[in-house]
Amino acid sequence: MKKLKVGVIGCGKISGAYLNKARHFDCYEITACADLELDRAVAKAEEFSLAKACTVEELLADPEIDIVINLTIPQAHTDICLKALNAGKHVYVEKPLAITKEEGKQIVELAAAKGLRAGCAPDTFLGGGIQTSIKLIEDGWIGTPIGATAFMIGRGHEHWHPAPDFYYKVGGGPMFDMGPYYLTALVAMIGPIRKVAGMTSTAYPERKILSQPLYGQMIQVDVPTHVAGLLEFHSGAIGTIITSFDAFGGTSLPRIEVYGSQGTLIVPDPNTFGGSVQIRRVDKKEFVEVPHTHGFTEAGRGLGVADMAQAILSGRPHRASAELAYHVLEAMEGFHIASDGGRHYEMTSSCQRPTPLPLGLSNVSLDA
Ligand SMILES: NC(=O)c1ccc[n+]([C@@H]2O[C@H](COP(=O)([O-])OP(=O)(O)OC[C@H]3O[C@@H](n4cnc5c(N)ncnc54)[C@H](O)[C@@H]3O)[C@@H](O)[C@H]2O)c1
Repeated sequence: MKKLKVGVIGCGKISGAYLNKARHFDCYEITACADLELDRAVAKAEEFSLAKACTVEELLADPEIDIVINLTIPQAHTDICLKALNAGKHVYVEKPLAITKEEGKQIVELAAAKGLRAGCAPDTFLGGGIQTSIKLIEDGWIGTPIGATAFMIGRGHEHWHPAPDFYYKVGGGPMFDMGPYYLTALVAMIGPIRKVAGMTSTAYPERKILSQPLYGQMIQVDVPTHVAGLLEFHSGAIGTIITSFDAFGGTSLPRIEVYGSQGTLIVPDPNTFGGSVQIRRVDKKEFVEVPHTHGFTEAGRGLGVADMAQAILSGRPHRASAELAYHVLEAMEGFHIASDGGRHYEMTSSCQRPTPLPLGLSNVSLDA
C-alpha cells in the first residue's frame, strides 16, 4: 500500500511519542524532522533513525513530504500550519489548534482554499476507550444523553516539563492545554456545543519551575489557571467541566461521566487511548465494566495522523479535523469570554460529530 511521507516540525518533549517506530501504521511514514534548534532535530533523527534532519525551510521545500506534523509550542502553531499549507503540504498539529479562534479560523480557511487537509490532536477519542463509550451511547445503552461532567484537576506542568513556560502564556492554561481532550471526547459522544458559560481565576501570579534544566526559575502567569465551565449541547444535554492547574489531583472526581435517561456511563481518561468503560443501567444497582468494542487501546500519538493519511488516500473525511478542533477552541475561548463579561457565550461554529470507527480494524490500518 502507498505510504504518505511525513515530516515533523518541533522536536521537543512530545515528538518521541510520534517518532516511536514501534507504533507504526501502514499508510504513512515519518522520514524527516526539523526544529528552530537544528541540533534538536539532528538528535531526534539519530535516535529514531530518520533519513533527514533539517531546517524548517528545508523541510517545507522538500517535494517528498506530503504531510507536516506540527509539534511546536501553541504560540507557533498557526505560523507553522500556514507555512506548511502554503508550501502545498497537508498539516496535522498538536493541540490546541491555535491560541485564538481568529488564528484557528485562518488554518481552517487556508486548508479549504488550498484543497489540503488540516488535522489536529487530540486523537485519543479514536482509541478503544472513547470509541467503546460512543458505541454504547449510539446503541442506546444509556438512553438519551441528558448531561455530562468532566474534571481535570492537577498542579500544573512545571514539576516535569523541561520548558513549562508556554503553559502559562496565552494559548496555555489548563483549559487550552487539557480541555481539548475532554471537550473533543464530549463532542464526539454528544455532538456540537450551542453555548457556554464560565468562571475563571488565577491562584498564583508566579510559579516556580521544579523540573530540570530550568529548576528554580520563575514563570510569570498570564492566563487563568482554574477554569469552570458550563456547556449546552445542540442536543439539549448540559455539560459541566472544571480544568485546574491550581489544585491537588487524585480526588474522587471522575474524568468524564455521561448521564442518560436510561443509565450512566463512566468514560475513561480522555488523555489515554484505552481505560475502563463502566455502565449502570436504569434497572441495576451497580456499575459493570464493559469490554472494549474497538482496538487502538494502546495506540499512542499518531492514530489521528494515520486516519488523516488514510483519508487522503481514500478521499473520505478525516476524523481529528481542524473543523472539530476549531469548534473546541471556540468553546475554550468562550469560557474565558463568558467569565470576563459575566454572560453566556453563544457559539458561532458547529461541526459534524466525527464518524465512529468501524469494528474489527487491525492495529496498523484505518478504514478506507
Ligand atoms: N509534552 C507533552 O506531554 C505533550 C502532550 C500532548 C501534547 N503536547 C503538545 O505538543 C506541542 C509541543 O509540546 P512539547 O511538550 O513537545 O513542547 P517543547 O517545548 O518540549 O518542544 C517544542 C519544540 O518546538 C520547537 N519550536 C518552537 N517554535 C518553533 C518554530 N517556530 N519552528 C520550529 N520549531 C519550533 C522548539 O525549539 C522545541 O524543540 C504543544 O502544542 C503541546 O501542547 C505536549
